[in-house]
This record gives sequence, C-alpha cells and structure tokens, in this order.
Amino acid sequence: MNILAFESSCDETSAAVVTADRGRIKVRSNIIASQVETHRLYGGVVPEIASRAHTEAISRITYEALEEAGVTLSDIDVIAVTANPGLIGALLVAVNFAKALASANGIPLVAVDHIKGHIASCYLGGRGNVAKPPFIALAASGGHTAIYRVESYTELYVIGTTRDDAIGESFDKIGRIIGIPYPAGRGFDALSREGFIKATGDRENFYHKYKKSAAYKDREMTLPSPALNDGSLDFSFSGLKTAAINLLHRYEQNGVEIDRALFAARYTYEAVEAVAKKLSMALDRYPGHDLCIAGGVAANSHLRHRLGEVARDHGVRLFVPSLDLCGDNAAMIGAQAYYEFRKGNLADSTLNASALDTIKQET
Ligand code: KG4
Ligand code: ZN
Repeated sequence: MNILAFESSCDETSAAVVTADRGRIKVRSNIIASQVETHRLYGGVVPEIASRAHTEAISRITYEALEEAGVTLSDIDVIAVTANPGLIGALLVAVNFAKALASANGIPLVAVDHIKGHIASCYLGGRGNVAKPPFIALAASGGHTAIYRVESYTELYVIGTTRDDAIGESFDKIGRIIGIPYPAGRGFDALSREGFIKATGDRENFYHKYKKSAAYKDREMTLPSPALNDGSLDFSFSGLKTAAINLLHRYEQNGVEIDRALFAARYTYEAVEAVAKKLSMALDRYPGHDLCIAGGVAANSHLRHRLGEVARDHGVRLFVPSLDLCGDNAAMIGAQAYYEFRKGNLADSTLNASALDTIKQET
C-alpha cells in the first residue's frame, strides 16, 4: 500500500511517500521544505509568513516526493494529512491541498494528529527494529512536552505534560538570549557538550561526571528542576526558563561575563534530568512497557544518551527515530495514517484543520 502524506502544521512543508508491506513501513521519499531561514530573522515562527510559504511550496514538493519515490498519483492508495494540532493557517494549507487531491482522484483520505505522527516516527526504524504498542512515549518539540501511554497504534493517553512552556520552546528562548540563532536546540546541544567537557575534563563520560564537578556545585549557577515535585508526571519549563533569565540578569548587573558553555550545560542537565526522572516514574507505573522518544527535542544527544540508561535500568528497550525523522516531516504522518486506515478511520470532504490538541488525559 502506497501512502502520500502531507505535513504543514508549523514551519516545515513536507510531502512523503511511504509503502506499507505486511506491517512494515518503508520511507520511499520524504521531502522537507524548511522555512527556518525565513523565521530566523524574527527569532521565532511568524504564522502568516508560514502559511504563505506552505502555499508556495506544497505543489512543488508533492511532485518531488512522487518523483523521488518513483510513483505517480495512480499508484497512491491513501492520502494522509496532519489535521491538528498546530498553527491553524499553516495546517489549512496541506489539509485543503490533500482534500482536493483525494477528491479529484478518488483516493481515500486519512487525517492524522501531529503528535501521533511524531510518535509514529518510532515505527520507521527499518530492519524490524521498530516500536510496538503498548509502550510509553515522550513527545518533545517546540510546542509539546508530554508523556503518553500508547495502548495501541491508534489509541494513546496523556499521563504527564508540561503545565506551561514546551521543552523545545524553552531551549529556543534561552538560546536566543545567549546568542544562539533560532531554532536554538541544536546549537544548545553542541554548546552544552562543550560545557560538560569543560566542567569534567572528559570528552566521553562527561554527563555522569558532571554532577560531581566544581561547575555543578557553583551556587551562582543553580537552577530549579522543571520536574514538578508533586507525584505527578508533569513539568514546568516556564519555571526553569524564568530562573535562567534571572540568573543571566544577575551576572549582567554584577558586570560578570557568564561562561555560556557552562551555563548551557547546567540548563540542559536540569532539563534532561527532569525528563529522565518522570520517564523513570512512568516506566515504574507501567512495568514492561518499552520507551519511545519523538519530536525535535528527541534529537538532543544528551537526552538520547540519558534515556538509553533509563530504559536499560528498567530492562526495556528505547526507540529513537533517526535524526532526520525527529523534526516535522510527512513520512511520520504517512506511518500513522497506515494504522488509522487499517482501523477504518477515514476522513471525507468535511475535514477541517484544528489548532487543538485532542489526545485525552488518562483517567
Ligand atoms: O518537532 P519539531 O521539529 O517542531 C515542532 O513540532 O515544534 O521540534 C522543533 C524543536 C525546536 O524547539 C528545536 O530547537 C528543538 O526541536 N530541537 C532540539 C534539538 N534539535 C531540535 N532541542 C534540543 N536539542 C536538539 N539537538
Ligand atoms: Zn512537531
């Protein structure tokens, strides 16, 4: 079965062709037109500019996706599109395009939730090394930070969430203040690595040695944990962000130049340890469940390393998408669409986009 999938919920326009064959899903093409350079000028995504750029890119990337996969529209069995959540004007571009294409060619249409799509990137591992429900999933991106219990390919429940900012958003905002260009996640990752190495003098095992280092004990650099201490699986990244902004102001007022690398390392450490703590709690609550991480922040090298340990400590497997599948892309939407289609979850011409997150809380 060939699926042509679309994604335009934020600042990447993407079209992909995936082929599902006896339960295995293969990416045939995954074209991503990124608008990052455009939005960098403003330090964040400007919704109206995003919608216009999606409109300009979508036809071209559809042709590219079909061509790279070596198929034509007549080979496509299902058309899939991200319908929610996201920027409404941005979502509408691919939703309307997919609806028109499906209706004009008599191809079934499937609507996909963006977060379910991110988690479905863990079904694209190749060589059979793919996640299989039930499992625990972390979706960590610029707009989301939540932990899910994935009961089946199409049913999942929120078991923990941020009560305010998303983890990626907090990296982007603090990164901007310390001079890392938008989106700051990748630069933050690299700068933190420099900081960890500087703090420990170890180029390999720096993450473990960090807690014992003098840099970690430096009181001037203390930051609060974003893991809420109330027995829940929830976070507050706004608390960490505000404390970091105050810390940076304090240095500035005292006329002391901050060591950016040591600061980035401290910030990353608190963020990663909080996620590790809550995922450990989640795995304790659901014994035997494997762990999957998805979303742009799943590309973070320190997080990947630390969560590998968390999974090992619990005797379960960790699934992480390849780096090119962590950020927004249409292949993951195609993967989720396969399972929605199998379940009979079809959309029709009344499909509309929605900015809202619809995944239910575990009761
Ligand atoms: O999933 P994604 O591409 O878009 C959204 O749905 O938001 O995630 C983008 C986010 C941005 O905040 C970006 O800074 C962050 O992922 N990110 C990272 C890394 N690479 C991207 N954050 C931490 N470490 C990284 N290596
Ligand atoms: Zn995303």
